[in-house]
Amino acid sequence: MSMQKADIPESILQLAEKNGQLQVFRFWNELNELSRADLVKQFESIDFDMIKEAMEQTNLASGSLISPLKTMTLAQQEERKAAFQTEGNHLIREGKVAALVLAGGQGSRLGFNGPKGTLNVGITRELYLFEILLNNMLANIRAAAAETNQEMKYLHFCVMTSDQNHEQTVSFFEDHHFFGYPEKYIHFFKQDQAPALSHSGEILLDEKDRISLAPNGNGGWFRSMMRCGLWDLLKKDGVEWINVVSVDNVLQNIADPVFLGAASLAGVPAAAKVIAKVSPDERVGAICYRNGRPSVVEYSELTDEMRLATDEKGQYLYHFGVTLNYLFKMTETEKAAGTSLPIHKANKKIKCLTEAGEPFVPEEPNAYKLEYFIFDILEAFDEVLSMECLREDEFAPIKNKAGVDSLQTARDLLVKKTGITL
Ligand code: UTP
Repeated sequence: MSMQKADIPESILQLAEKNGQLQVFRFWNELNELSRADLVKQFESIDFDMIKEAMEQTNLASGSLISPLKTMTLAQQEERKAAFQTEGNHLIREGKVAALVLAGGQGSRLGFNGPKGTLNVGITRELYLFEILLNNMLANIRAAAAETNQEMKYLHFCVMTSDQNHEQTVSFFEDHHFFGYPEKYIHFFKQDQAPALSHSGEILLDEKDRISLAPNGNGGWFRSMMRCGLWDLLKKDGVEWINVVSVDNVLQNIADPVFLGAASLAGVPAAAKVIAKVSPDERVGAICYRNGRPSVVEYSELTDEMRLATDEKGQYLYHFGVTLNYLFKMTETEKAAGTSLPIHKANKKIKCLTEAGEPFVPEEPNAYKLEYFIFDILEAFDEVLSMECLREDEFAPIKNKAGVDSLQTARDLLVKKTGITL
């Protein structure tokens, strides 16, 4: 590749050479000062170890031994529910739990132009996803305060954004005056990015001065959260548990006292909310052990035999799907933060520049997107409490434009549960 390398800062040149990524700078001579500096900055932000690991990795799922993990069913919770609730409400009143909404995704299936949390779920009025999540959490805070006739203790509400949607998300909250929630309890931080790679491991370019970067999946939250200082801030304020939830479930139960109380009384480092699958064929990840560690098995990983396998009571062994509502004990998560997460390489169609600098819109998957998944974090813990919740009460995700798990189905489920007018 011919290129005048003279003006590329020496350290960057070395980094590029060492990692076999010189092609990133192939249009250097055509770039002005500003673009050059920008490209260097993007390049410096890249996690080359992640790339190396991803390219060396073979099929992740192959070779893992999946076995069932027992769930605390609704029936089993019944007699201890009051005790869980008392404990959970106490923790809420003490401000021992904080919420973290994962809102850095690109929502590609929904195709909504803007951060997903800014989607208006209302029909005759405005009712935004972020607002719904705050309201869901507030309902639990209010109930906890009411139990002992105390003043409400606001909980920290953290929002993980991405480079692509950070500014829009923050200004959305500002424009809506944080939906009446005290601003000092709302925190935003950006997740890290990962570059798109060609099948041979070369970093792709979007533009001559722009690396093709995308959010690095929903599993990188604790490292990003620790790095930006938010983790310490929460700890100093006495927070012990982080309730990590997805942004797109209108029935997401945030700071649920029963869930929190159960996890606290069980003394577990982490807990996952799960729902009974409608059928063994429902395409949701199921809670399980993987090589003896708590984990999630994706639908595609289960053989027909495993999907239909039952226990002595006739209950499917992989019957409970995760809802993306987890509790993590901060002290234990810190210990786990050092363990490395597997990288998931998704083969996708990613627009990029050709060698010559022409825009290329692929018709076949041409590149890898690199992501960490939140459920891989579970493997870092010896024990994870899997706790059933009722689908009608807590699960109404918005993933697709139409059909299953769409805005329409979520609206219907929200109205059915709460009776509100949208
Ligand atoms: P999904 O896996 O459904 O991804 O995310 P998505 O980006 O919302 O949608 P698609 O797959 O592109 O259509 C589950 C949760 O994880 C968050 C999402 O915002 C959502 O709350 N997420 C996902 C992140 O915060 N960062 C990511 O890099 C990916």
